[in-house]
Amino acid sequence: MQRIVLVGCGVVGQGFLEIISRKRNILKRMGLDFRIVGVIDSSGGVIDENGIDPLKILEIKKRGNLPEGIRFEDVINSVDFDIGIEVTPTNPDTGEPGLSYIKAMIERGVDVITSNKGPLIVAYKDLMRLASKNGVQFKFEATVGGAMPVISLVERSLAGNQILSIEGIFNGTSNYILSRMEKELLPYSQVLLEAQELGIAEKDPTFDVEGIDTAGKLVILANAIMGIDAGIKDVEITGITGITTEAMDLAQRNGYAIRLIGEANREGQLKVSPKLIPRFHPLALDGTLNAALIQTDLAGEVFIIGRGAGKIETASAILSDLISIST
Ligand code: HSE
Repeated sequence: MQRIVLVGCGVVGQGFLEIISRKRNILKRMGLDFRIVGVIDSSGGVIDENGIDPLKILEIKKRGNLPEGIRFEDVINSVDFDIGIEVTPTNPDTGEPGLSYIKAMIERGVDVITSNKGPLIVAYKDLMRLASKNGVQFKFEATVGGAMPVISLVERSLAGNQILSIEGIFNGTSNYILSRMEKELLPYSQVLLEAQELGIAEKDPTFDVEGIDTAGKLVILANAIMGIDAGIKDVEITGITGITTEAMDLAQRNGYAIRLIGEANREGQLKVSPKLIPRFHPLALDGTLNAALIQTDLAGEVFIIGRGAGKIETASAILSDLISIST
């Protein structure tokens, strides 16, 4: 039996609680027995070493906040647990509060899983060193491409290959906006508004449309699968806000789509920019999908596509890390 603490109970945290409950029987058949002994978020928390019913937490969250009074420090200082799942909101500048939570859990000697890009963007190397020093596993599949299993694909299925380059679509919001602009030949501002109304784009879409979210994911991939010691300052970034209807129209008439592409190569060049992609190239994707084209020395080209965001999709990547840690 493994005891889990969930740090963060927003959309992703609730998605995890939902699927851990839904998959209980399958996990049991795999010989896995997870017990949630703590759930905390910015409003409060619940601790019970005998196990917490995930559905009860979802009920509480549906009605409002977790009970006040329990903080992360209480969990770290008083709860016995084996795996910490950190799913607090991303801050790409400081990595906080997730960075401190992850460090504290690693130092406490528990395995950690995160969906939070911020801590990895800010302190990838430090976190890896800390995990290795403390002899714990630290997994983060959900940070790049949501349910698209790009990190484990390279780590497991392409083990032994050298990754020569990677290029891909790592931001669903930008891809949705560009593909709608292309289809309807509508201006950027109008499509952004529509995406916000549909809940696809955030109220403040800056990180997505300025390419910062893609750059953060590229930094994680460069470090994790290409062994490049890079930070966000090493990425040349151009977003999609300057793309005009005229540019879209011209591209289309010449057989191209415009897509926001993140690319990294072995020379350590990291770039995020809108690129002309031939209409029938696999990266000329529509909608909110993510994709990655990986060049390897042995396997050649590998292409992967999947849902880059979403409550259950992101939780799927967390569950996969959880199973991988536990088997
Ligand atoms: N905001 C991101 C996107 C999802 O639009 O792809 C979270 O990484």
